[in-house]
Amino acid sequence: MYFLLRSFKIRENSTLKMYFGLKLLKGNLKKLSYDQSSTILGIETSCDDTGCAVVSGKKDILGESLFSQNVLHLRYGGVNPLVARDLHRENIDLAVNEALEKASLNIHSIDAIAVTIKPGLLISLQIGVKYARYLAKTHNKPLIPIHHMEAHALVARMFHEIEFPFLAVLISGGHCLLTVVKDVDNFLLLGGTLDNAPGEVLDKAARRMKLRNIPAYSKLPGGKAIETAAKGSNNPELFSFPIPLIRNRDCNFSFSGIQDTFLRHLLRKETEHNAIADRIIPEVNDLCAGLQMVMAEHIAHRIERAVLFCNKNNLLKDNKTIVVSGGVACNNYIFETLQNVGNLLDCNVVRPPPKVCTDNGIMIAWNGIEKLKKGCQFHSVSLDSIDPKAPLGTNIINQVKDANLYVKVRRLKNKIK
Ligand code: KG4
Ligand code: ZN
Repeated sequence: MYFLLRSFKIRENSTLKMYFGLKLLKGNLKKLSYDQSSTILGIETSCDDTGCAVVSGKKDILGESLFSQNVLHLRYGGVNPLVARDLHRENIDLAVNEALEKASLNIHSIDAIAVTIKPGLLISLQIGVKYARYLAKTHNKPLIPIHHMEAHALVARMFHEIEFPFLAVLISGGHCLLTVVKDVDNFLLLGGTLDNAPGEVLDKAARRMKLRNIPAYSKLPGGKAIETAAKGSNNPELFSFPIPLIRNRDCNFSFSGIQDTFLRHLLRKETEHNAIADRIIPEVNDLCAGLQMVMAEHIAHRIERAVLFCNKNNLLKDNKTIVVSGGVACNNYIFETLQNVGNLLDCNVVRPPPKVCTDNGIMIAWNGIEKLKKGCQFHSVSLDSIDPKAPLGTNIINQVKDANLYVKVRRLKNKIK
């Protein structure tokens, strides 16, 4: 707590009382006015990136900052929650000030503050929410609570002309979700992952292949390292990977079988080449290509059923758009595969710019703008409203299952036809 207060520069006794007193504030409904010049400060700390940004109703990014912990967590082979929390605590004040400075604004001229309250790592979310509450109270600013996954989907509207409703596939280090975005605050959940998230599997695979030992990859997130290595493959079909869940007529995902197959291939090759300690198997590029390919195939297969389901139930309008977002959406191979499948289904497939696909403050500020514009009402944000495991939208996964829609499996080695 000492560090928290120190880094928030809370020095005066009265401010201190106010900070702790915030816990008692609850239940006030606030409605805010919006116009195109409205500006929102967004704060994101749900996982391992401290991201802040100031965004306007005109879709301008006035200022942004990102303190990424990626390189540090590469050492652990995953996000270490305690390290993540400590770094958020250390950086949040710097991140907010940097975003404001870049925007040439001070906190007084901001209309509202938006902060991620769910889902994510509890102790990381707490840092962002506590800080945002302190800022909001000190400067008498409204506070807008944001759902991290909704923000990943909605931010595409900042960069593309997308009307509601649209389909979104959110692929990241912690999630894999297929959703119909009916409105700013109205989501239908068509499918989720039964086990791991795609980014999680890519990160573990990169670490297990020791890609970090290759200097050009040493600072890249696992997924990016695999994408780069896959480009060097002359034989992407050397390793075979079955596509998961092909007999399940739903839109759920599973990546644990892919991870197991990957490990089996890797172990076999490591034994064959006696690749102990720091040595990397010579077929590493082909293994990366095979892994990336099956992930693209699996995600494409589920999206195809989602489009069929939406068509059958008239859930999308004529001008069908599929948004791909979340860190794994940065992967050009996966994105282009989804674009090809989307085109076959008469859908326009888009994604935000790569730096906005991964976690950032821009999407949080933008979601604040969207909520403001819609005229959403906000309860004051209590610490109790933090929800690490919050689901997304109304769950209609069983309705998708019951529709029992057949989708042909398209293997990429035969090229998408
Ligand atoms: O959305 P994000 O920044 O954080 C979560 O909410 O999880 O996603 C991070 C994930 C990591 O697993 C990282 O390896 C992956 O996104 N990623 C990529 C690429 N760049 C980042 N995966 C595949 N290809 C990439 N180019
Ligand atoms: Zn995310």
